[in-house]
Amino acid sequence: MRHDIAGLFAEREADRYRLHSRHLNEQMVRVLRTIGYDVGFCKGQGQYLYDRDGSRYLDLLSGFGVFAIGRNHPVVRAALKSALDADLPNLVQLDVPTLAGVLAEKLLAYTPYLEKVFFANSGAEAVEAAIKFARGATGRQGIVHCDHAFHGLTYGALSLNGDDMFRAGFGPLLPDCVSVPFNDLAALEQALSARNVAAFIVEPIQGKGVNLPSDGYLKSAAELCRKHGTLFVADEIQTGLGRTGRFLGIEHWGVEPDMVLLAKGLSGGQIPIGAVLTRKYIFEKVFNRMDRAVVHGSTFSKNDLAMVAGIATLDVIESERLVQGAAQKGERIMKALAAMIPRYELLHNVRGKGLMIGVEFGPPKSLTLKASWNIVETASSGLFCQLIAIPLFKDHKILTQVAGHASHTIKLLPPLTVTEDDCDWIISSFDAVIAASHRVPGAVWSLGKTLVGHALRARA
Ligand SMILES: Cc1ncc(COP(=O)(O)O)c(C=O)c1O
Repeated sequence: MRHDIAGLFAEREADRYRLHSRHLNEQMVRVLRTIGYDVGFCKGQGQYLYDRDGSRYLDLLSGFGVFAIGRNHPVVRAALKSALDADLPNLVQLDVPTLAGVLAEKLLAYTPYLEKVFFANSGAEAVEAAIKFARGATGRQGIVHCDHAFHGLTYGALSLNGDDMFRAGFGPLLPDCVSVPFNDLAALEQALSARNVAAFIVEPIQGKGVNLPSDGYLKSAAELCRKHGTLFVADEIQTGLGRTGRFLGIEHWGVEPDMVLLAKGLSGGQIPIGAVLTRKYIFEKVFNRMDRAVVHGSTFSKNDLAMVAGIATLDVIESERLVQGAAQKGERIMKALAAMIPRYELLHNVRGKGLMIGVEFGPPKSLTLKASWNIVETASSGLFCQLIAIPLFKDHKILTQVAGHASHTIKLLPPLTVTEDDCDWIISSFDAVIAASHRVPGAVWSLGKTLVGHALRARA
């Protein structure tokens, strides 16, 4: 039997909504229909998606950051094909896989202060491992995280989630997990001072909201951790691998964490992978005797295809100079968007680093706009951002996302491969849509009325 996957996709793709309504998550289908995103994507290449009619979209969501090097990168694809053709001795389990050693060596070259790697299958699994390692290595139970944090949705990771929407209905969660406000050193010191906290786990830039640390916060937080015997863990699952214009986000603030967590982009957009880079003594406290050699692990971690995807991805990041490109293009986009603030009263702030950018909207001053804003925001907080995201998608073929639940920030997280032309596309599209949102009455606020109707019906 031979599978013609392209043929199978072509034959069944028009059926995807019915299949999902019936066998998977029907609510997701309802959401997509409501916001009009049912265009039927049929192809992905680099930073672009193509719908059923062949129209090209610029993807600023990149699969929540998975497609750092773009979709279906030829180098990763060729590496994976070569691995498949090589009849490798994959997942022997009673062996140590060669390619995992190679990828670990490559990763650790970026963090000379760390010496060991644990591989997992996803971001959340890397977070789970970090929680266990921190407890195991310190003999302490507490884990401190920040408000608005997002570290994944498995139980340990969910226990560190800063948004009640994700947690509600799933308790009880892991005990001894404490939340502190992001950027608040006094609160952190208070949380650590009882000396029962194993780890402080923090995203250098928070993905939900694109919240930046104030200068000095992360450095002082790391010092507080050292003072109180707590491990400092940088969750770089979204910020790592060049996203912010440095290989790791934390490098902007000169901190050397005790553990660094990676996932998403390391997959090359192909094979799920997670990684915990850690100090040697932490690892050796967990895997401290021969009979504990398998005390933590997962059947598929270190699988050859994931390792190959990781190795090839790192090579692409280097050879295409994507870290430097992210810094330069991000700065260009941010400057152009920030320059619009004086022209648009609804546009309040543009922030970010590299190609992790938040565009924040807020209440206007003029009376007509204020009335429209209030109607939309009273129906559902954060709804205004959909009035920007939907026209960006429908009229300008830009796929983007609101930066979190009830957020007023739109997040740009494009593949690091975006070109100067793509930057022009982004800047002119935002300009046009934001300009349209300042016209009352107008198409943007008619859409607002429709969405308010949906929001009220959903609540009824
Ligand atoms: C900072 C951060 N940590 C952890 C995760 C969880 O990763 P995964 O979805 O692969 O479990 C995410 C996912 O969005 C993330 O952004």
